[in-house]
Amino acid sequence: MGRIGQALDGTARWLLKWRIIRGPARYLANSRYAYSIISRTDRVRTNRLRDRIKRSEMPQHVSIIMDGNRRFAWSQELGREVGHQHGKEKLKEVMDWILDLKIPYLTVYALSTENMTGREDDELDTLYDLYVTGFQEICSDPKIHSSGVKVQAVGRLELLPERVQNAIKVAEEKTGEYTNFLFTVCLAYGGREEIVDAVRELADDHAQGKISLDAIDTDAISNRLYTADLPDPDLVIRTSGEERISNFLLWQIAYSELHFTDVHWPSFSRNDLYEAIDSYQKRKRRYGL
Ligand code: FPP
Repeated sequence: MGRIGQALDGTARWLLKWRIIRGPARYLANSRYAYSIISRTDRVRTNRLRDRIKRSEMPQHVSIIMDGNRRFAWSQELGREVGHQHGKEKLKEVMDWILDLKIPYLTVYALSTENMTGREDDELDTLYDLYVTGFQEICSDPKIHSSGVKVQAVGRLELLPERVQNAIKVAEEKTGEYTNFLFTVCLAYGGREEIVDAVRELADDHAQGKISLDAIDTDAISNRLYTADLPDPDLVIRTSGEERISNFLLWQIAYSELHFTDVHWPSFSRNDLYEAIDSYQKRKRRYGL
């Protein structure tokens, strides 16, 4: 960083200290220095928040309902495919932030079973192409390999087109040995369907005499979910203002902290992630969850 950059960072810290950033910034409204100060101030604030949350207990499993790609696009008079494209790029950024925080489990909701019947074919095709390129990009990203991130997809994957199934297979094979982080993408996924599949498996095992009625308990169901190898999420984040769960990890979120934010997924920032974690940590401290 050059000397001007350091001076601007120093000014930003000073303005933050005296809590007078908004006034001078407005006064200097159109100057590029003002813009630079504001963005540097935001960065300083975000980095401070990161340092603060890093000092407290981190959630071990964060899961995200990535909502609002189309509303993001429409708000800027862009096509919905542009919104989804931005959504994919955002996901890669968020993975980086999660790795930086050393959170071992990240799970995202990328396509519900309802989406598959409720969206037009050409939108679904756009999404399928994005999953293919998304998985290819993720599993050829050097950071995924140097950090040891295992990538997997869960859901009724057999309902997906072959090109998506192949991309998933390649990503899973290329990262299957890693154990430091687990990145799970829920695709063609529905929480109720997942429970139905687990119950069917249990019923089958019972019919074959492999499990007695008494042995059917919450663990028996948890162990038959698609996410059997994951701890339950500590924190669920949903973007874009809707405050519902929409059939996501229904069984697993019994005790999870829920965090809703108004920002559309493509606009989700590092600061938004840290704020969600900060609110999780505050509640955990308050209620000892
Ligand atoms: C919800 O926004 C988002 C989706 C249905 C798809 C999200 C997909 C990606 C971010 C790409 C993921 C890539 C990989 C590799 C997993 P919406 O379409 O429901 O938007 P709206 O709420 O504004 O209608």
